[in-house]
Amino acid sequence: MTCDCHSVWAMSDSFLSLAKYAVVLLLPVVFLAHRYYRSPAPAPARLNTSSTEEKPKSIMQPAREDLAPPKDDPFTLAQLVEFSGAQPGKPIYVSIKGTVFDVTRNAQVYGPDGSYSIFAGKDASKGLGMSSLKPEDAVPEYSDLSEADRKVLDDWYSFFLKRYNIVGKVIDHPTVLAAEKEAAQKAEEDKVEANL
Ligand code: HEM
Repeated sequence: MTCDCHSVWAMSDSFLSLAKYAVVLLLPVVFLAHRYYRSPAPAPARLNTSSTEEKPKSIMQPAREDLAPPKDDPFTLAQLVEFSGAQPGKPIYVSIKGTVFDVTRNAQVYGPDGSYSIFAGKDASKGLGMSSLKPEDAVPEYSDLSEADRKVLDDWYSFFLKRYNIVGKVIDHPTVLAAEKEAAQKAEEDKVEANL
């Protein structure tokens, strides 16, 4: 006679195997979904297209319609440090490729305890391009970035352009200094040539 207990065990055994298969199959799906919604790296890459604004599921803040006309106030890199959010009551500025953005309304992100405080009160173009939050990458010189990282940096620039007011320009940004040096060299060469 077949033991009832045996068939109960057999049933619970196959139920357990089924559950194990379900878990094994579901795990990768859950992992991929988590990556898609939390991963920041693809976010700026996706942001360069107008589809950003069309994407209803984006975790990024939408573009704004109420931006003020850009200002052209001059800042040195040393002056920017005052706008890191460390001094209460002062605005918070982030510079990208020498353009200074007012990010004060997002103080919880860029302020001293925020996840992106590394970008506040400075120009950290290189780190943005590299998707890096390391202090050693948070520097304005970005000429050594790869083409792909430059694209990421440009995408962040467009992202900020559509979301934050421009308050000025960094007058001693490495790119500005390099351009000035090049112009001075050219002028000197032209002068020598004219005297020949
Ligand atoms: C585990 C890694 C990361 C996660 C989960 C993450 C998550 C997020 C989320 C949810 C947002 C949109 C919401 C918000 O503004 O707070 C965001 C925005 C942003 N992320 Fe990340 N992120 C990560 C890493 C990075 C890295 C490595 C960078 C370096 C470039 C970065 C730069 C930014 C910037 C600049 C913004 C825009 C903030 C703004 O609205 O002004 N993130 N990130």
